[in-house]
Amino acid sequence: MNDKGHLPEERRTFLKYLIGGGLIGFAGSVLYPLFAFLKPPKQADVEVTSASAGKLSEFEKGTGKIVRFGNKPLLVIRMPNGEVKAFSATCTHFDCTVQYKKDLEIIWCACHNGKYDLNGKNIAGPPPRPLDEYRVVMKGDEILISKKA
Ligand code: FES
Repeated sequence: MNDKGHLPEERRTFLKYLIGGGLIGFAGSVLYPLFAFLKPPKQADVEVTSASAGKLSEFEKGTGKIVRFGNKPLLVIRMPNGEVKAFSATCTHFDCTVQYKKDLEIIWCACHNGKYDLNGKNIAGPPPRPLDEYRVVMKGDEILISKKA
């Protein structure tokens, strides 16, 4: 401090950095554990070769449902003509879960209005590529889904 009661410029600058650094460190020590808690843990892919999508007799025509294939969601659609199709339910844009829109007869992604036709082809919006299609096999009344070769 000089004789007029002011800190020299270098000391003032040093104190600014010291206080600023302390605040940043404090904020980091509070926010990092919060973000680490909120971030979902990484899951390893669960390798499966087939999965059941339930019974055909309980699957109404013109509806779709999400089923698990390992740890991935699949969209299984029973078309109005009765045919069953299965696609990856993960949008090829930013990984939102897609859904079957009965009224428009499309597969729709609500996140950014992405649209796919009922062959999984991206037809509108930002999705850059088609959805992966899975093979559907009937075993009696049971719908079995497997990866296409
Ligand atoms: S995540 Fe599906 S359109 Fe963007």
